[in-house]
Amino acid sequence: MIKSSAQIRQAFLNHFAKEQHQIVASSSLVPGNDATLLFTNAGMVPFKDVFLGAESRSYTRATSSQRCVRAGGKHNDLENVGYTARHHTFFEMLGNFSFGDYFKPEAIRFAWSFLTETLKLPVEKLMVTVYETDDEAFEIWNKEIGVPADKIVRIGDKPGGKKFESDNFWSMGDTGPCGPCTEIFYDHGEHIWGGPPGSPEEDGDRFIEIWNLVFMQFNRQADGSLDNLPKPSVDTGMGLERIAAIMQGVHSNYEIDLFQGLIKAAAELLDVKDLNHNSLKVIADHIRSCSFMIADGVMPSNEGRGYVLRRIIRRAIRHGHKLEAKSHFFHKLVAALAQQMGEAYPELVKQQAVIEKILRIEEEQFGRTLDRGMALLEDIIAGLDGKQIAGADVFKLYDTYGFPADLTADIAREREITIDESGFETHMQAQRERAQQASQFGTDYNEQLKSEQHTSFTGYTNSDYSATVVELFNDQGKVSTLGAGEKGVVVLDNTPFYAESGGQVGDTGIISAGDAEFEVTDTVKLGNAFAHHGIARGNIQLNARVKACIDAERRAAIVKNHTATHLLHAALRNVLGDHVTQKGSLVDDEKLRFDFSHFEAVTSDELRVIEQLVNQQIRNNSQRETALMQIDEAKAKGAMALFGEKYDDEVRVVTLGDFSTELCGGVHVNATGEIGLFKITSEAGIAAGVRRIEAVTGEAALAFVEAQTDTLDAISALVKSDRANALTKVEQAIQKAKQLEKEVAQLKQKMAAQAGSDLVSNAIEINGVKALVANVEGSDPKALRDMVDDLKNKLGSGIVMLGLANGSKVNLIAGVTKDLTSQVKAGELVNMVAQQVGGKGGGRPDMAQAGGSQPENLDSALASVQNWLSEKL
Ligand code: ALA
Repeated sequence: MIKSSAQIRQAFLNHFAKEQHQIVASSSLVPGNDATLLFTNAGMVPFKDVFLGAESRSYTRATSSQRCVRAGGKHNDLENVGYTARHHTFFEMLGNFSFGDYFKPEAIRFAWSFLTETLKLPVEKLMVTVYETDDEAFEIWNKEIGVPADKIVRIGDKPGGKKFESDNFWSMGDTGPCGPCTEIFYDHGEHIWGGPPGSPEEDGDRFIEIWNLVFMQFNRQADGSLDNLPKPSVDTGMGLERIAAIMQGVHSNYEIDLFQGLIKAAAELLDVKDLNHNSLKVIADHIRSCSFMIADGVMPSNEGRGYVLRRIIRRAIRHGHKLEAKSHFFHKLVAALAQQMGEAYPELVKQQAVIEKILRIEEEQFGRTLDRGMALLEDIIAGLDGKQIAGADVFKLYDTYGFPADLTADIAREREITIDESGFETHMQAQRERAQQASQFGTDYNEQLKSEQHTSFTGYTNSDYSATVVELFNDQGKVSTLGAGEKGVVVLDNTPFYAESGGQVGDTGIISAGDAEFEVTDTVKLGNAFAHHGIARGNIQLNARVKACIDAERRAAIVKNHTATHLLHAALRNVLGDHVTQKGSLVDDEKLRFDFSHFEAVTSDELRVIEQLVNQQIRNNSQRETALMQIDEAKAKGAMALFGEKYDDEVRVVTLGDFSTELCGGVHVNATGEIGLFKITSEAGIAAGVRRIEAVTGEAALAFVEAQTDTLDAISALVKSDRANALTKVEQAIQKAKQLEKEVAQLKQKMAAQAGSDLVSNAIEINGVKALVANVEGSDPKALRDMVDDLKNKLGSGIVMLGLANGSKVNLIAGVTKDLTSQVKAGELVNMVAQQVGGKGGGRPDMAQAGGSQPENLDSALASVQNWLSEKL
């Protein structure tokens, strides 16, 4: 029987493979080279160019199970997650695609046969919608498939909306492939509130869309106009989680196998007893999207994809907070996720340690913000007059306490209050203007901060140095003294502080004049002078003799990363080719980041070789040579210069053995061995044709490796093994679990059969007819049909009426052998019983099922069957 998510996924792919579809593996959540889309939000995204005719493949039919994120952009479900039974930020979409091959009739036929033959869904549970004017689709459903006309709903454009703004017209985004669609709905039964699509009650949970078949015909342009696609095509999408809910006999997606493990793991970590708590659902949903996003190279940040990721992480952490999380819990769920989905998505397992680490850092950072902000927000809400939080308060939380406005809105929503969004926007705008005016101490300088001075840099060889203060600024302009506590800028005649350039960050440290100190928080260039930004601790005077000391430990970490960046650059060209050129770099004390031109993702094999090459150079311990020379001479030596960059006539050339020669003004190690170790932590695309590698060196690299080893140790301990044998043990455990699952399934079947035979002996005779009425509590509701068939066979001739309570629900089934259906109809019998347990039912004369919602009345309802039958027989 097809039941688990894994079985459904496989059955789907097999079904379409049988129909000559190529099975295509899930693509990354970050769409390749597509600036119009934040995330892969549907199964068709990787095939967008194929639909548009811009790319051709060796096949015209494909099928996939694609990981998708709908959080940001046109399709955004983030705010609904946790509040409904089936919204997710991350889900898997099962799809089949035709690229100018088959069209409407086959698409409909394939879908119908999967649902009704492979999955054996009862036909009467299904209904469909078509686009209002799509007579062709209507006819196929009605005439070819045999769906009655009253189960086919025509859905038009939204009242007051634009043309094709309809539930039955699907678009990938504001531009791109689109077309009318037909959707298949499943009726979860009348015990759930809701009406069929198109009815006023359609938003209820009873009729659920499970599959969308899009007849791709157009390419939407930026101005809204529609061009025809080269050939009519098909794109379908069925949410794995929704269909799994149906196959697993549950109503909410959160009750399916994929989620239950995560919810239990979260409940255990957070010590929560109520497994139905909405916050657990939010957390279970969010760990999926966050982990997969990070596995696909997205890093938390303040813009674009990284910002969406950061928002989701923060939302999860806040829900943990609601559940009174005692410590950082979110990253600990990655293990449960890897266990649940690692088989289908091995990248998750491979990257587990990295994902955990990134999530943990975010949790640590955000945890501090959250505690303060929540306390403040509670005060604000408690003091509220009406039902709206003022824009000024939302702004203050954000500006002073770093508490994001969308979180405030989210919490407000839970308390059924709103926030004054436009008031908040007004404050934001005013702040932007203030920031512009006051940016002289940011990175862009205004008129007042100008210097004619010339600072010589002594930091290639020195880390501390005696110097003279030649200029001082506070936020008003030039001054002769910086008072204690005052923020400002110090300019020296000489300095060992490196000023930010060429990707290397500025140094920090202390400038001391006797007892007074100036704490340097950043160093940047100011014309030919170096500006030490920071804060005075004591009076700093113009012309004072001072000692300038950089934070040597931080600098040592920075230079390791800088030299490693040169090695990485050379290794990339070695492995990927000479088309690789630097597009940007950032070197600080924690990591290095290198952006470069390359047309596709760097494979893990390539990354491995690149990393090995760099480490080989580290072990070679080559001396770092620097020389000043004429630019032409440098180029002749093969020094890598940045295209489009302006260089002085005399340039500084940094050489590392015979491996790397680059023009560079930065500071480096003396010999490559100092770097110790180099580890790549991520590779991702950041723009069309531009990739980004992030890496760590020295101690940070060691910490990175240790985190991975910790994970391996944790796994080893779990399987009571050691590092060397853990993999085999885990494989064995998985094998064993599979074997056990099989055995359990077999045993269940046997038990059901056994229960059936035992029951037969309970049959009584009513007017010479054998009748069996029983409460079969504890049986699997899905085994009822088989049980009734079996009992009918055993009785030869007779009537069977079974019922069972299943939580708050009642399942009923009646069976009548053919020879008796003229006297008693199973549909009538089951309906008679159903009415007594708050339900309604019906079906064929020989077999009928029904549900109910009053388990407490089940026994008395079953007891009434005997009288009812004696009247009929
Ligand atoms: N691309 C279609 C959807 O996402 C199938 O609904």
